[in-house]
Amino acid sequence: MYSFKAVFAVVASIALVSGAHGGLLGLGGDEGGLGGLVGGLLGENGLGGILKGLLGDNENALSGLLGILGGNPGGLGLPILGDITTLPQFLLDFLQKVPSDILPQVIELLSNTSLNINEITDKLTDLLSGKIDDNLLSDLLATVADLVHELLDGIANVLTSLGKVFEDLTDILQNKDQSIAQQKDAIDKLRQKSPIEVDTIFFIASQVVKSLQNGQISKCLPNGFKDISLELLNGYVEIFGTELIPNQKYVFPAKFRAAVFSWTGGTIEIKGGTESAYISSESTAMVVYLNIHATLEKLRKDREASGKDTGVTQRGPRILLVGPTDVGKTTVSRILCNYAVRKGGTPILVDLDVGQNNISVPGSISAMLVQKTADFVDGFERNMPLVLNFGHTSPGENLPLYEALLKALATTMNGQIEENPAAKLGGMIVNTCGWVDGGGYTCILKSAAAFEVDVVVVIDHERLYNVLRRDLPDFVTVTHVPKSGGVEQRPRRIRKIARKENVHRYFYGTSSNQLYPFTLDLSFDAVVLCKIGVEPLPDSCLSFGMKVEDHRTKVVVLEPSLEIKNHLFAFSRSSNVDANVLASSVWGFCVVTEIDMEKRSLTILCPQNSIPSNILVYSVVTHLDDQLRR
Ligand SMILES: Nc1ncnc2c1ncn2[C@@H]1O[C@H](COP(=O)(O)OP(=O)(O)OP(=O)(O)O)[C@@H](O)[C@H]1O
Ligand SMILES: [Mg+2]
Repeated sequence: MYSFKAVFAVVASIALVSGAHGGLLGLGGDEGGLGGLVGGLLGENGLGGILKGLLGDNENALSGLLGILGGNPGGLGLPILGDITTLPQFLLDFLQKVPSDILPQVIELLSNTSLNINEITDKLTDLLSGKIDDNLLSDLLATVADLVHELLDGIANVLTSLGKVFEDLTDILQNKDQSIAQQKDAIDKLRQKSPIEVDTIFFIASQVVKSLQNGQISKCLPNGFKDISLELLNGYVEIFGTELIPNQKYVFPAKFRAAVFSWTGGTIEIKGGTESAYISSESTAMVVYLNIHATLEKLRKDREASGKDTGVTQRGPRILLVGPTDVGKTTVSRILCNYAVRKGGTPILVDLDVGQNNISVPGSISAMLVQKTADFVDGFERNMPLVLNFGHTSPGENLPLYEALLKALATTMNGQIEENPAAKLGGMIVNTCGWVDGGGYTCILKSAAAFEVDVVVVIDHERLYNVLRRDLPDFVTVTHVPKSGGVEQRPRRIRKIARKENVHRYFYGTSSNQLYPFTLDLSFDAVVLCKIGVEPLPDSCLSFGMKVEDHRTKVVVLEPSLEIKNHLFAFSRSSNVDANVLASSVWGFCVVTEIDMEKRSLTILCPQNSIPSNILVYSVVTHLDDQLRR
């Protein structure tokens, strides 16, 4: 059983927690939301209010509270308190045992909201000492604390599942293939499964709508949802390998995440509210990444020297970064490129991640020469990258095609670096996606082979490290490194948003480097649409010598139809619609914004004012160009 003090400490901490939850969700007590519910137990209409209600001073207080807790119309219908009638019953039981001469004082004490918890505890202990069974008050308070614990557990459960339910709800609402009635049905089903979560999300939505209508959205945004500025006051600090210039204000957009690191110490000033900002004592990961850079740098120097001896420029080191999702592969590739550039090198960044490509749009693989350190917010300048269109956001959608593109990209890059000795010596830093099992593992092996890498760095996955050591040739060095403690886990919904932002950036640039795309109307006759990969033919229909996987890499003409609306298309460098389309790099991308089947014309959003090629290759990636309507 709790001692008095322990019980009150629990209650006090509940008050703090409830404040935090109320703030986070913006659920005010007035609305009968969670804040109101916890407030109802502990706030102005708290324990005191309940007692008063029981004793007839304010009958509505109790029924109001029960209304909020229970299934009354407008109530939360929370299952978490079990039989809520125990609340007044145990209070009644307790009060019945308090001697009548001190009952008014006990009630007054319990009703007094101006006293702090310790004062109430001390005064009650003094008052009741020797007058009632010692355990009676502690039993009462323990029961309250138990109920409130259950309540908070329930709230915690709801909060935990809120994100998942929100994702499900978003999927339903964004499913354009469903009629409104079907969407309503799906929402009803979701509500049956997770009633509190769905209602909570709708409640938040209604508050956001109100704020939007009043033009107050920015005022009510919590910390982390507004821009912040950061300034280096003294010392040397860097963000993912890019150094900050002292006394310059850097603005970071809402929801941006970064680790400011210093090898020697420094002082920074952050202005604006961050969702969280902390000083980490962890530096192991950065030391390990610096060691990798030092190893690469040594290899560059050695090969430069031996190139001078032989008169033939040697290839710089090639490194492949692999690991599951969200372990910092992309960040490490950025750090390594930045460090190489800071040493005067020009490495090639290769991005094989078709889900979150950092050089071009999702659905592509790409490579480019890095000559400048990355911008803190915008990343590396996308300077004449070499891009191949895969057309899907996961390699698993078409493994034979992915493999063919890996080889094509590597071959083209190998050819190009022969013209640029500095690039050849700079080596390659190859980033991959987080799919490491089954077909994903095969992709890693194929990538290592296609780019003839010297080093494979496995981030945070010991089993992968061991199987790669077993399966890669001996001349490939495989190392296992930890992930940085700061790396963020990004759920499916955030990845989707990141993809959308990436496409938007492709057409419209960034706030510091805005682009102005063109809207072009094209006749069906002015372009040839095609796609790579067709549905498999039954074995009996395969012509002699045709391999089963051929259909996955077959280039076929695609007739214009309403289905291609909002899809990305790549401008192929191939001059014919044939097998060359597959391995040809692309000039760039457009998005089909309108299709007019009667007029036989399509409208595209295009980075330039004329099409660089009339062969347009389909991508499953879609983009709704909301900017057009502004
Ligand atoms: N040390 C760090 N401190 C804070 N945030 C970090 C750190 N390292 C990475 N991040 C952030 O964590 C997120 C995931 O990192 P990153 O994109 O590098 O992982 P990844 O392994 O490439 O993920 P994916 O598998 O999705 O490609 C990013 O938002 C990144 O900015
Ligand atoms: Mg990545």
